[in-house]
Amino acid sequence: MLKRTVRKYSTKLLPLYGRPANVFTHGQGCYLVDKNEKKFLDFTAGIAVNALGHGDLQIAEIIHDQAKKLIHLSNLYHNEYAEGLAEMMVDSLQGTSLNDSQVFFCNSGTEANEGAFKFARKYARTVYPNEPTRFKIVSFKNAFHGRTLAALSATPNKKYQTPFFPLMQGFYTLDFNNVDSLSEIDKDVCAVIVEPIQGEGGINIATDEFMTALRERCDETGALLIFDEIQCGMGRTGKLFGFQNYNVEPDLLTMAKPMANGLPLGAVVVGNRVAKTISPGDHGTTFGGSPLATRVGQHVWKRISDPNFLSNVSKIGEFLYQECANLAKVSPLIQSVRGKGLMVGFTLRENVPTSMFVDLCLERGVLVVSAGNNTIRLVPPLIMTEEEIKKGIVVFERVLTIMEGRIASGKK
Ligand SMILES: Cc1ncc(COP(=O)(O)O)c(C=O)c1O
Repeated sequence: MLKRTVRKYSTKLLPLYGRPANVFTHGQGCYLVDKNEKKFLDFTAGIAVNALGHGDLQIAEIIHDQAKKLIHLSNLYHNEYAEGLAEMMVDSLQGTSLNDSQVFFCNSGTEANEGAFKFARKYARTVYPNEPTRFKIVSFKNAFHGRTLAALSATPNKKYQTPFFPLMQGFYTLDFNNVDSLSEIDKDVCAVIVEPIQGEGGINIATDEFMTALRERCDETGALLIFDEIQCGMGRTGKLFGFQNYNVEPDLLTMAKPMANGLPLGAVVVGNRVAKTISPGDHGTTFGGSPLATRVGQHVWKRISDPNFLSNVSKIGEFLYQECANLAKVSPLIQSVRGKGLMVGFTLRENVPTSMFVDLCLERGVLVVSAGNNTIRLVPPLIMTEEEIKKGIVVFERVLTIMEGRIASGKK
């Protein structure tokens, strides 16, 4: 078994991650290459970030050209690329409740959610000035919204939260996909945040019924509805926005991971009624929306929002799902398969360690990442081909067989 170590390569990095010994130096398309020139087929895409794969020459050229001109400007001045990207994003939202929205750019998913919470609280303070207790924020079990204190307070995972108690006040958790629990959203709630498809939590797909009931309950009580599409947005499900898989629309939308294919860029899309309550100085960022990140962001947006690109994601995603469902038929170690587009997960049976699967795949040149509930998460670049998927599936099948043998003989 591979040894995961936090100290093998560098003792100067804070030991927050258990990493394998490989040191990756470059990549091309859906492959990463390590220092020993070993190639790895990448089903992680930097955790749903490198949507257009690695080493994309168009992106490299844009970065090169823009780096020569202007990398950073601060938000003290206009920057044509941030303005342009915001316009492209809002244009893509025509025909939805966010058709008249405005955009705040930041650098990460957790920052996008922090921004959304602040905007929601400002909205409540402004629109309900006589309701000082309307500041609660509701999230759902198995959600992941980030690591900064407010985002962490909305991420009900004991392992992540407990070392950092006390968390921020005013955060509450309800059951995901449980319509009955929604009656607990009351007039003290200023916002509810939900991932239409939970990523870190184990590829858990919200039901239509739940999303519809959630929107209705928010409308009844006056709570704002925030969709966290940091992992499931921007083409990952075969739709530009994850919520387009439902008949429900949000008041605020948070995005990040693939927006600049790996350069830090996040965004909060703020619906008009909320945007109207935000004034200069309410929030800010030094780096957010830099000319470099947003110019790349425009390029990525254009390519991913192309209907042909999106329909290919749906087609390839369906293929990946079917291949995993076929694996589940032959392997007793797989309990269930879930997914939409190129966001697919399979849950291993209880007591079957996902780390064994991840490590054995790595040894055989395939990168996968686990997620909550004993799940293997497949979030490859959105440009992955059927051929590449088939190569990965051959390895998965082999690894499952090896695991069966090891588990039967009591070796872990
Ligand atoms: C749904 C969701 N929200 C928020 C975050 C936090 O994003 P970041 O790691 O960029 O802060 C993540 C990261 O995995 C995520 O998947």
